[in-house]
Amino acid sequence: MSDRRQFLKQMAGVGALIATSQLPAFAEDNPEVFPKRGRFERLSLSYGVVNIGLKEPFSLLHISDTHLTAAYPHENETKQLLHTKRTQTFGGRQEEALLDALAWAKEHVEFIVHTGDFIDWQSEANFDLVEKYFGKSFVGCVGNHEYSPDMGYSVPKIEHTEAFKDLTRGRVQGHYPFDVRFTSQVVHGVNFITLDDVYGYVTEEQVALFGQEVAKGLPIVLCMHVPFFTDNMWRAQIRFWKGKGPLDSGEFPPVTGDFLAQKEDPVTRDFIDYLKREPLLKCILAGHLHITVEDQFSPTCREYVVAGGFLFHGREVMFI
Ligand SMILES: [Fe+2]
Repeated sequence: MSDRRQFLKQMAGVGALIATSQLPAFAEDNPEVFPKRGRFERLSLSYGVVNIGLKEPFSLLHISDTHLTAAYPHENETKQLLHTKRTQTFGGRQEEALLDALAWAKEHVEFIVHTGDFIDWQSEANFDLVEKYFGKSFVGCVGNHEYSPDMGYSVPKIEHTEAFKDLTRGRVQGHYPFDVRFTSQVVHGVNFITLDDVYGYVTEEQVALFGQEVAKGLPIVLCMHVPFFTDNMWRAQIRFWKGKGPLDSGEFPPVTGDFLAQKEDPVTRDFIDYLKREPLLKCILAGHLHITVEDQFSPTCREYVVAGGFLFHGREVMFI
């Protein structure tokens, strides 16, 4: 009889208290059987492959929406309230999840891309975590939450405008090691362009900068917080956030919010139309939706959205 069965037999008819010192070694705790117990087992990874025809294939980990909710004891009452409430919202394991992802990435891939909402709102403690974790091999962009001083708990009210971002843009920029409006980083002959589209739209300035990058003639991977919605992505995120109704009706769910901005803002609409015809665009990486979903964006470009980092999600994307 195994130790375990013997133990359970002995326990039959015994009261509720079990001395832990008498517990036998269960197989799942045995380091000889599971030497990697506790390593990466909480991570939920999906995969994508981008075919470019590279001489030097490489791989990265795409994570997003970590939503850190830290506040130091000396920070004001609103920050303490947000810390309590929003830690409940995101489960309190956001930093653990990030550490799991980073440890996995260190062993398996060359780069990490984080597509925004690294922090849930602005606090000294959250910004210190930004500086702690964003290193040179960490490509990134900001999300709508980076521009959120107090999640709407204080004035001014959140508005989806450049003027609203301007209120704290300097503060945000001061803590992130990349230009929060637009960056380009070429690795292994692939141009990773990151841009701020946190309210769904892009600006004329960003479109012009993108044009300069296209002139380099390199394959492009666009990294941003809010995806450029396809109809399928819109359906999926409505299903996740709003439940059953929109699916049952059989009709296409009403277009609102960021998708509406992408259809109505002329600069963004024209940019998206152009991107669908740009053969150098090979891949879009985005977050914000908190679900893992992917769709074909254009004949040359697949768009990957990764679910919340706070839920231990990530995607390895191979570029071959
Ligand atoms: Fe977001």
